[in-house]
Amino acid sequence: MNKKVSIIGAGMTGSTTAHWLAEREIADIVLVDVVEGMPQGKALDMQEAMPVIGKDVSITGSNEYGPTEGSDIVVITAGLPRKPGMSRDDLLAANTEIVGKVADETLKLSPNAIYIVLTNPLDVMTYLTWKKTGLAPNRVIGQAGILDSARMRAFVAMELGVSVVNINCYVLGGHGDSMVPLTRHSNVAGVPLHKTMPKERLDAIVERTRKGGGEIVSLLKQGSAFYAPSAGIAQMVEAILKDKQLIVPAAVYMKGEYGLNGIYFGAPAQLGANGVEKVIEYELNDEEIAELKKSAEGVAANIAALGL
Ligand code: APR
Repeated sequence: MNKKVSIIGAGMTGSTTAHWLAEREIADIVLVDVVEGMPQGKALDMQEAMPVIGKDVSITGSNEYGPTEGSDIVVITAGLPRKPGMSRDDLLAANTEIVGKVADETLKLSPNAIYIVLTNPLDVMTYLTWKKTGLAPNRVIGQAGILDSARMRAFVAMELGVSVVNINCYVLGGHGDSMVPLTRHSNVAGVPLHKTMPKERLDAIVERTRKGGGEIVSLLKQGSAFYAPSAGIAQMVEAILKDKQLIVPAAVYMKGEYGLNGIYFGAPAQLGANGVEKVIEYELNDEEIAELKKSAEGVAANIAALGL
């Protein structure tokens, strides 16, 4: 039997995730959304593309949860996206209600699923999903770090004119403006990043990375980024379904790593069949630790505001 990935929220990120996944031919896909006919229409359209790209994948759309039964992975992208001028935290109240309901409904039918959350504010919504489902923390993961790191990698590639494949960047911390791009641990084909360009250029890239989501929101005028976030989810899904033991930055439950406890927070995570198999700890200097601590305080405050 094929693996099954259910994506709740068939909007921009949800449907684009389905697109990336269908291309990989690694699972059947179920798209669920509250908008009548929309998930069915997108699913059918994508299904009709499969003969063209030569992939045998079943894609189903529904306004009900029934077709999600027995999912191996549940992806949550349901919720409101940012509008220009809004921070991710401004979405807290509306998305808490939506994500809480989605977690309840999906768990009933897929008690053995691994959850990947994308809805913002990301670290808080991932924590909420973990609490609501009562699953072991390794089975609930948030997608943010791949995206933030990919933005930084893209900016470095544009600056240096080098293949993106050669560029390794690691952005940790909460998925907000206080995220922590670790320039000391980033490199271009093994050459430390700070040796590849003048300090002011690197500082500008760090700043642009931190504000990367906002840059897209202001350009789009409505909605937020969806190609890169959904590409990040697809990479995580593949790592889990293929038990790749792939190390990527992701929002994971902290059990003492980096001196943090009891929150979801961006850290390098080894992903495999059990979800988070391991959290990797980098050796950080005092300045980096202070930045992570500041970012963690913001996440902890938002989690506390959930009142769970
Ligand atoms: N159940 C299922 N789907 C829902 C529900 C619900 N209770 N409530 C809302 N939705 C759906 C909406 O109908 C919409 O189609 O979630 C979808 C969200 O899609 P978009 O509005 O296109 O937003 P998108 O860009 O995909 O972002 C979704 O991910 O990156 C984050 O900040 C972003 O929180 C936002 C989320």
